[in-house]
Amino acid sequence: MDTYSFEDFVGDTDVFFTQHFDRKPLLRRGALAGRLAGLPSVRHLDDLLALETVPPSYVRVTKGGKGVPSGAYTRTVARGAALAEALNPEKVYELFRSGGTVTWNSLNHVLPSARRLREPFTDALACDAEVVLFVTPARTDGFSPHHDSIDVFVVQVDGTKTWRVWATPEHRRGDEASYTPEELGEPVIEVTLEPGDVLYVPHGTPHAAAAKSELSLHLSVGVEPRRWRHLLQDTVTALVEDDDFHAFPYLADGEDAAVAALAGKLELLRERLAHLDAAAEAKRLVAAGRTRNGAGGTREFARLATVDTLGPTTVIRRTAVPVEFGVSDGGKTTLQVAGHRLAVPDAVADALRALDGDRTVTAAAFFPEVPEARSLGVARGLARLGVLEAMGGPSVAPTAHHERK
Ligand SMILES: [Fe+2]
Repeated sequence: MDTYSFEDFVGDTDVFFTQHFDRKPLLRRGALAGRLAGLPSVRHLDDLLALETVPPSYVRVTKGGKGVPSGAYTRTVARGAALAEALNPEKVYELFRSGGTVTWNSLNHVLPSARRLREPFTDALACDAEVVLFVTPARTDGFSPHHDSIDVFVVQVDGTKTWRVWATPEHRRGDEASYTPEELGEPVIEVTLEPGDVLYVPHGTPHAAAAKSELSLHLSVGVEPRRWRHLLQDTVTALVEDDDFHAFPYLADGEDAAVAALAGKLELLRERLAHLDAAAEAKRLVAAGRTRNGAGGTREFARLATVDTLGPTTVIRRTAVPVEFGVSDGGKTTLQVAGHRLAVPDAVADALRALDGDRTVTAAAFFPEVPEARSLGVARGLARLGVLEAMGGPSVAPTAHHERK
């Protein structure tokens, strides 16, 4: 399956960051030509609409440039004793057939391929990113001229769509806004995007799009890089976590003592800021920007299923999962692994210690001088915890929950 780097979308990153990022639009024809198999497509959209219950907040339908009220494509379903609104797929298809554009927001919430698509963007820009899917029927004005408050990377996946993009204004209005064609003059980019083309539209940049002779599906990766104020807020928030800023002050009466106390804390904060290691803080801010809470991508069930297929002749090895060895007591050694604490025969602890570096052993011979079946059982148990793995088997182990690829 294709995985994508940030360069795949924007080309030379030095050129992108010095000339285009936050400044002017960028068109890259054929950037992902022939490499679309790993991306969400029309087929995935049908699969999503085939789910029994979809919360309507994911889907938006617009027609003639205006949003269709969600009541036109939802139905009420019983969920236990309660009632909830869910998508009515037939109504969505009907609105699409009659010229509506269907938008699926936060596609990365529900589709692994959309989650993978956002990764190069969160890594490169150290901020959150959301993937939105747009599907437009043939011969429709998808969206009339407007600007968005976030940066958008458009990837054309199916069909074609004609875009007009105007120059990024020097002074940008923050929120979303729409325009008449007369206000805008000549676009700086006018292009019919084909599958594999990528278009970058900085925030506040007017743009409009329309599908031509066929259905169009494009993905928009929306990113909102953090401004200085967000980064510095984060820095100060981390500094005031310290116990020195924990007490409840009483400032309300404005007495000299209260003012002096505040002045003292401001001075302390100033000192802490002055002593901050800027290089280390930059690293921390980047790491924080790349972190996203939510489900991991570890395929743990698939890993556990392969553990149960370990046989006596399977060659096994240690993984990178750390094991803390305790002291031996009564023939047993305590191990601490991935939040578990277990006592194993000393011979098992020794066998595990011996499996460092590139050494391997068969599952039957792992626990020496016991019957094969017992050795295999112990090997499987340790493999379930992620300490051992089959050679050539999946290398994903439980601690990978906390790591990025
Ligand atoms: Fe837009």
